[in-house]
Amino acid sequence: MLEGLIALDAETGPLPERIYRALAGAVRTGRIKPGAMLPSSRRLAAHLVVSRNSVNAAYELLRADGIIRVRRGAAPVVVADVRLERPEIAPAIRTPGLSTRGEVMAVNLRSASGLRHAGRLEPGAPDEALFPADLWARTLRRVARRRYGAAAIYGEVEGLAALKTALSGYLERLRGVKASPHQILVVPSTQSALSLVAHCLADPGDRALVESPGYFGARTAFHGAGLSVGAMAVDGEGADPASIAGEPAPRLIYVTPSHHYPTGARMTLQRRLDLLDYARRSGAVIIEDDYDSEFLWQGRAIAALQGISQGSEVIYTGTTAKSLLPGLRLAYMVVPEALVAPMAQAHRTLGLRANIHAQAALVEVIESGALATQLRRIAQIYEERGRLLVEGLRARIGPAIAVAMPMGGLQTVVRVSQAVDDVALAAALAGDGYETPSLSSYCAGRPERGLVVGFADADARRVARFADRLDAALRLT
Ligand SMILES: Cc1ncc(COP(=O)(O)O)c(C=O)c1O
Repeated sequence: MLEGLIALDAETGPLPERIYRALAGAVRTGRIKPGAMLPSSRRLAAHLVVSRNSVNAAYELLRADGIIRVRRGAAPVVVADVRLERPEIAPAIRTPGLSTRGEVMAVNLRSASGLRHAGRLEPGAPDEALFPADLWARTLRRVARRRYGAAAIYGEVEGLAALKTALSGYLERLRGVKASPHQILVVPSTQSALSLVAHCLADPGDRALVESPGYFGARTAFHGAGLSVGAMAVDGEGADPASIAGEPAPRLIYVTPSHHYPTGARMTLQRRLDLLDYARRSGAVIIEDDYDSEFLWQGRAIAALQGISQGSEVIYTGTTAKSLLPGLRLAYMVVPEALVAPMAQAHRTLGLRANIHAQAALVEVIESGALATQLRRIAQIYEERGRLLVEGLRARIGPAIAVAMPMGGLQTVVRVSQAVDDVALAAALAGDGYETPSLSSYCAGRPERGLVVGFADADARRVARFADRLDAALRLT
């Protein structure tokens, strides 16, 4: 029995990481062979006398690392050509007394990818130097002098009424979202919106699907809520609902339809309709993350999925993290009518209220048109930087990479041959101060090789240096 080969180390620390280490170690030393079937999470949990959630969380880590493959209704299998040179999960935070839930939440899924959130050319990060600091300071000064009555105390906790009204018009005009103001909840970030949805709409062990490759934040939020995370394939036409046909129905499906993260693909209308149809039939809720639709370099924006739905199968999220700054802590979500009251209460329970003056300032910049002017200004700059990066890399490196200007957004994917170890490539570049993670680390399913490279802070010198370093690293890996 394979269970006999697995023993937990004597260390303390989150159980999922200890189980992960035990299993990865057994595979590494050959005690468990490539192609071997692992015990079901129920059996292993019973053997180790731990919760099934902990085993599921460990299996998710092994899958994220490409060590095992998990198929519907079958026990996980160690992949035949398992690659074990990937960095280990960072040592856990050793906090005695963590609950099982706390242990699951404390797992750092990102550590396996080498992502640190610091460095040049970081994907998805805006350029702080382009933040309209004077405009924001003037606006804050004005709004901070006002009286807000109950809203300044414990009223309008789920969002300032004036902001919900402004966002309702803004989202309808620009994104085709159908939302009356009371369906909007203002939150500090998309991340908090994803966690709120995961906790309110799914139970531990329920299935959630993310795009592969896809956004880490979604995987972390679902994993942190104890959900079992599965993958939906993505190609040049965006997320592919056909890739999940026949699988057990998920409770949640996370997608970035207008501009896929990180590849930039746009989901075709047919696929958007297919996904809505799937959600309607299966009872799954779609989370539409419309994180950077303000930045579109080619073609026309496609309408939000929420706007073409019947209104009950999609939760829409948007953020000011790209258009203004992640540190402002201002994002929003549109929830179906039936979920407004319970989710507003859960929002209050979790203390997700956003700063009142920041909310009031956002109302002013939306209504005065200043935000639209700012967006036009920075979009032009970002587009130039994107072209600088793409053209600079193509000219310097040539056919060893494939890179294109994305339709929109602040990052692109630099694809390399499947034979290249992109984790090693990203690590080599991280050593030079670049935060350009491997594409394979964004994959919950079949790994694709490349780097995800941001261009919000690109300039000619930085691009030239990066191109030199990448070229050199490609010759070594
Ligand atoms: C796909 C995606 N969604 C959302 C966000 C923003 O998240 P938040 O509002 O939590 O800062 C990002 C930031 O990089 C992102 O890449």
